[in-house]
Amino acid sequence: MPEISLSQAPAHQRHGSNSGQPLTRRDGVLKVTGAARYAADNHPPGLLYAVLATAAISRGRVAALEIAAAKAHPGVVDVMTPAHKPPLAEDPDAKTNPFMFRLELLQNDQVRYAGQAIAVVIAESLEAATEGAALLAPRYEALPARVGLDGDTSFLPPAVGIGNPAAVTHGDVEAALDAAPLTVEATYETPAQYHNAMEPHAVVAAWDGDRLSVDTPSQGLIMAQGRIAGLFGIAPDHIHIRSPFLGGGFGSKGMISGPQLLGIMAAKLVGRPVKLVLRREQMYGPVGHRAPTRQRLRLGADGEGRLTAIAHHAKTVTSSFDDFYEPAADASHTLYAAPAIATSHEAVRIDIGTPLFMRAPGEATGSIALESAIDEAAHACGMDPLAFRLLNYAEVEPITGKPFSSKALRECYAQGAERFGWAGRPREPRQMRDEDGFLVGWGVGTATFPALMFAAEARAVIRADGTGVMETGAHDMGQGAWTALAQIAADGLGLGIDEVEFRAGTSDLPDAGIAGGSAHTATAGTALHNAGAAVIAKLADLATGDERSPLFGAGNAGVVARGGRLHRRDDQSRSEGYGEILARAGLAEVEARGQGTADPAAQSTYAMHAHGAVFAEVKVDPDLGQVRATRLVGAFAAGRIINPKLARSQLYGGMIWGVSFALHEEAVTDRRSGRILNADLAEYHVPVNADVPSLEAVLVDEHDPHVNALGIKGVGEIGITGSAGAVANAVWHATGVRVRRFPIRIEALI
Ligand code: MOS
Repeated sequence: MPEISLSQAPAHQRHGSNSGQPLTRRDGVLKVTGAARYAADNHPPGLLYAVLATAAISRGRVAALEIAAAKAHPGVVDVMTPAHKPPLAEDPDAKTNPFMFRLELLQNDQVRYAGQAIAVVIAESLEAATEGAALLAPRYEALPARVGLDGDTSFLPPAVGIGNPAAVTHGDVEAALDAAPLTVEATYETPAQYHNAMEPHAVVAAWDGDRLSVDTPSQGLIMAQGRIAGLFGIAPDHIHIRSPFLGGGFGSKGMISGPQLLGIMAAKLVGRPVKLVLRREQMYGPVGHRAPTRQRLRLGADGEGRLTAIAHHAKTVTSSFDDFYEPAADASHTLYAAPAIATSHEAVRIDIGTPLFMRAPGEATGSIALESAIDEAAHACGMDPLAFRLLNYAEVEPITGKPFSSKALRECYAQGAERFGWAGRPREPRQMRDEDGFLVGWGVGTATFPALMFAAEARAVIRADGTGVMETGAHDMGQGAWTALAQIAADGLGLGIDEVEFRAGTSDLPDAGIAGGSAHTATAGTALHNAGAAVIAKLADLATGDERSPLFGAGNAGVVARGGRLHRRDDQSRSEGYGEILARAGLAEVEARGQGTADPAAQSTYAMHAHGAVFAEVKVDPDLGQVRATRLVGAFAAGRIINPKLARSQLYGGMIWGVSFALHEEAVTDRRSGRILNADLAEYHVPVNADVPSLEAVLVDEHDPHVNALGIKGVGEIGITGSAGAVANAVWHATGVRVRRFPIRIEALI
């Protein structure tokens, strides 16, 4: 039976009744009542507890461990070390594709960063395992730590699937800078940051022969399943991963991490179920982080304030043994029209865990530098920073010259400025005070994030009772996927959301791709939409080919699905219920699959990005230099919004992370040991309620016929991108001090 193509999809599937509704998240009650079962909440019978022992040095080797002392501790069952561990079918250092990160699975005695696992103690209780790990008292042969951005071993990292590490040029930047009547040159520094999801990485693993059951948080179930299968030499379908809820991921749960795999190894070693949960400080090393950057921006402008050149060079770090880099300079490819643009990257290898995707990797880091430089250029040109951005508005993607698939950024600037009250802003800094004498500043930043599509599959079923089932192994890390995807699923079946059972969160379901790159709703949603269209087409074939049906002869494209019935397009009074169609055909159910993938033709024709404009107010104590973000208004255009309530929540989250980037987060390295000095939530500052300003997120209408069948661009990461720069620019406007090292701290302002 032929599956109908998207262009033939019934009209309702393009304009469903569930999508667009501000539904409250369906898992909300479970979460706030404690009924949601996270990975570490599982206690299978016979469970043992595993605790990592981690390296206190950042380079060298482990010379000795007091294994006998640990084993002698009451309750300790075993100690897993490089000399005593289950065999692996694959070298953890093998790399056959760029997304296969090298792992530390006790393959040898080498230490490549502080916090690396050097042994795993397995015990009858968490306390016994913790005490056993302490008794290992490692002795090391240490080498000097290589830290910071100043190392002299710069190299050009290979691509890891995002960004352009090599120099990318458009036009002659050096000539344009030489000729420009006005130039701005500045260097900005951003710190190392750690994801710090509220839920630590955790695993509960249970083996049954060569079958494995795993409870673990994952942003990419099928990738995790494949990695486990390769390492343990078992068939992927022998591995069942459950990940119904994640307490945040931010990129750190995109690929299964070393510690999660060590938990699975420990279970194999002892032949009993094992739970391993990272302590907070153990999340500063083996599960990825955002690398620090030093970014040099050079802008040229003509006498009217039009940009003639943008040069953006980013230096960053990666680990001594893998190649991920933060593609910060790529932010300059997209945002502002300039006849000449050049971006480039370099990285230094240091003794640290491999950096990873984190909250708008590249865009967040690059845009706080670019947005600061744009602000500096606007001021140098004597222009309002919003007027300067509008003058340099990119009508086509600057680096490629491609048209945008859609771009409602002008409307974002206009609606955001209106809601914020930007019009009254004095151009010079240090002009506004509040009633308490605090300096007040207003700043703007442009938000941008690519509209990506990965690959996903979904399965749709319509049952004889007229209800439906939709399946895809999607991941809800708190963003609301269970709800937004269920809305798309119900629309795909022409049913109400309560008539569809939506199944997600386990590895035995069709591959939903990765919940990352802000592309989960777009990718998994498109798969659900297409699966729905395919199953409806099968029903339509059954009905329109049967002369007993009122739909007989209407043809597959001559019917629409709505309210659990197929209606004749030319005569909507003639219809038949799903249950009646199946009953007459003698079928208990009908099922079909659908894919969600990028359309290569559209991708090669159009530049696809979400956009936004963020306006920030800060107040600065003129004596103490203390900065508070007090008000943020963001207006975002991200194509079709499936659930405005959840989309606003995601944008709020992103905006808070933007405040955090500008004012709070920084991991500090001890230059002697290479250890992170503030590996806890007391000293690694993430915003708490008292740090969060008044937030408003405006959803700007945007219709995009090219990104995917549903017109979805994604809202997961864009919120951070404009917000960080807006806050930084507001601090300058309040104080007249341009801080180029982030986060902005008191000592930079007094
Ligand atoms: Mo995200 S950093 O793509 O999980």
